[in-house]
Amino acid sequence: MKTFFNLSDEIPPESREEQTHYFQDIFGNSHPLIVEIGSGNGHFLVENALQNPDHNFIGTEILGGRARKFNHKVEKRGMNNIIIFKGDARQFVWEYLYEETVSEFIIMFPDPWPKKRHHKHRLLRHTLLQMLHLRLITKGRVSITIDHTRYRDWIIEEFRKTERFHNVSSANLVNYTGYPDHFPKSLFEVRFRRENRSLFFIQYEKG
Ligand SMILES: C[S@@+](CC[C@H](N)C(=O)[O-])C[C@H]1O[C@@H](n2cnc3c(N)ncnc32)[C@H](O)[C@@H]1O
Repeated sequence: MKTFFNLSDEIPPESREEQTHYFQDIFGNSHPLIVEIGSGNGHFLVENALQNPDHNFIGTEILGGRARKFNHKVEKRGMNNIIIFKGDARQFVWEYLYEETVSEFIIMFPDPWPKKRHHKHRLLRHTLLQMLHLRLITKGRVSITIDHTRYRDWIIEEFRKTERFHNVSSANLVNYTGYPDHFPKSLFEVRFRRENRSLFFIQYEKG
């Protein structure tokens, strides 16, 4: 099974119906789709895919070296429910996915771009959230882990601007919880834990 796709070498499906065939041809079934944005070396998604054989997983990663490490893990384990697209996740979401086709989007530790003049580079802004909303099935979810408190609060504000998403990770009057116990590890999670940073989980559902 082909597991590595370079966005610049592929022709995306041209309709929602074609999208169904496109992923059915790759995975050999039509299990629910889970898409990760910014997968890094793939630690989290590979483990998640091993634990959930009844779902199909798609990783996206812009850096070639990380995308290849991700793919190496997949090939080594001979997995058939996970693939990786190398390229800009926004392009993948917009060109390869159609309305109401994805069960969950996962973003583990998005780059925080802490300086104000760099905020324009932040991925999780209103426009991407609107795009994710269109692609999700009803009750589909966006799940985010994060260590950076100001980006965390910024993301929650961006969700507030996006109608018809509701928060499902509230605790003690705040819209986030701690890192879920059942979640597999990601490379950055391990790194941040070593630095004793607090980790947070944000989850929204399409109503
Ligand atoms: C802080 S790292 C986290 C990696 C991984 N999720 C983890 O938890 O170990 C953020 C990742 O997002 C990737 N990334 C940033 N912008 C991206 C984009 N537009 N499309 C795809 N990946 C992107 C980066 O290259 C990097 O690997």
